[in-house]
Amino acid sequence: PEETVSLVQARLREVQDFPAPGVLFRDITPLIADSEGFGALIDMLADRYRGKVDAVAGLESRGFILAAPLAIALGVGMVTIRKAGRLPGPVVGVDYDLEYGSARMEVQPFTVEDGQRVLILDDVLATGGTANAAFNLVEQAGGVPVGLCVLIELVDLGGRSALDGREIEAILSY
Ligand code: PRP
Ligand code: HPA
Repeated sequence: PEETVSLVQARLREVQDFPAPGVLFRDITPLIADSEGFGALIDMLADRYRGKVDAVAGLESRGFILAAPLAIALGVGMVTIRKAGRLPGPVVGVDYDLEYGSARMEVQPFTVEDGQRVLILDDVLATGGTANAAFNLVEQAGGVPVGLCVLIELVDLGGRSALDGREIEAILSY
């Protein structure tokens, strides 16, 4: 696992002032463009969660890139948690605050079975607003969220405290 974490870390890109001045953006595209690094990451996650989850939920859109191959590797299905208005109903939704304004995530409850253990997957944990909405949506859909797994946790943005009491696994922290 340590070798995989180093390989993954080496494939990430830091971009100054994106998408706005003052932001240091962590770009995962070089990692997913590299079959060795991407494959090693998915293998490592599959080893970690094998037998422990019944479904993997991906958060639109970069969470999908990680959740789909992990679901296949684990032999489980994938649940898509999407931005408002993208999924045909019936959906359940959760509104949450952003730094400026608000957002809404939705899921189709028929994609989660009652009592199913659901792992939530995303690329980045920042303020935790998106992930918190995802935990609530999985519960509203009848699932049992077993935890959040992110590739990157941006520690200073406080996501961990916003998700107080939830299980969080971060591959890398900055
Ligand atoms: C980013 C990231 C997480 C979320 C984290 O997604 O991929 O989903 O923000 O932020 P938070 O912890 O403050 O909620 P974004 O909204 O940029 O969507 P995208 O993946 O479609 O680009
Ligand atoms: N990278 C990718 N997604 C993000 C970031 C970042 O640095 N911050 C908030 N969402």
